Amino acid sequence: MEIQKFSHSATALAHPNIAFIKYWGNRDDALRLPANGSISMNLEGLDTRTRVHFDGSLRLDELQIDGVPTGGESLERVKRVLDEVRRLAVMQVFATVDSQNNFPLGVGIASSASGFAALALSASGAVGIDMDESSLSRLARLGSGSACRSIPGGFVEWVTGTGDLDSFAASIAPQGYWDLQDCIVLLSSEPKTIGSSLGNKLAGTSPFQASRVADTPRRLSICRKSILDRDFNAFATIVEEDSNLMHSVMRTSCPPLFYWLPESLTVMQAVRVARAAGLHACYTIDAGPNVHIICEALVSGDVVKLVENLPGVREVRLAKAGGPARLVDNSAQA
Ligand code: PMV
Repeated sequence: MEIQKFSHSATALAHPNIAFIKYWGNRDDALRLPANGSISMNLEGLDTRTRVHFDGSLRLDELQIDGVPTGGESLERVKRVLDEVRRLAVMQVFATVDSQNNFPLGVGIASSASGFAALALSASGAVGIDMDESSLSRLARLGSGSACRSIPGGFVEWVTGTGDLDSFAASIAPQGYWDLQDCIVLLSSEPKTIGSSLGNKLAGTSPFQASRVADTPRRLSICRKSILDRDFNAFATIVEEDSNLMHSVMRTSCPPLFYWLPESLTVMQAVRVARAAGLHACYTIDAGPNVHIICEALVSGDVVKLVENLPGVREVRLAKAGGPARLVDNSAQA
């Protein structure tokens, strides 16, 4: 076929995920091979929908996020994934990527995770290369580490592996296994100043990172078992410990990264007091000020009441465990 006439597109949908055991720091920055394994839950109802159109008449790759033409580092990361798809498909056609989110960007909800998971699936789907779940997870990882966890559904573990071929994520329990809910307490809608890609590169500058990484197999095993046993108290303790450990590394890296606001700490303390009084809720925070309160879905109304009037709380968004990334349209034309 003439290159000029090449026109293949596909659209995929993926959810962000919230990590219970966090990924922070790479063994290999280019391949995003993580320093430690991680466990997360996909977030239902928060969606990124990405359409990729490989078009033989284009001279360059083009990216739009929520309708805004986007270049710079975001486009470079998108190209990294598209280049890998072009290599696998043995073709040299540029693409337009149009990504739409139904939640705010850069505020601690991992839009890069859902974005790169949807991109991996739509780009490979558009050119018709057949990739299994682990290959898609590896492809998404090239754009954003945590994106590899948004390919499989439900509760997911990303294993460090020994290299590119065996560092991918897989489900450890399906979406409906445990009725957990993430109550996302939005404190700020300001985009963060240092994103997680750069932050991940700084992790090794903290003297605490080596001991955090060395202790990860213990935390992974407790977290995995607590999910499989649906043991909320064991789960809550390890999730909070893991988040505190990651933020200790962040705050002691060079330069230091302070993602919490004073209001974040107020929410965290309210959650701890309520749990001591019997509420099945715990907190975790990513690379932003917003607090994710993980609870059993039955008590999410109590969690909302607990925090909605605390200082600085703008909104509380609820999300249950979500499904895998999926193709929603595949309209390849020759
Ligand atoms: O995948 P990245 O580069 O956006 O890094 C994600 C890092 C955290 O969200 C802070 C932790 C995690 O495991 O999701």
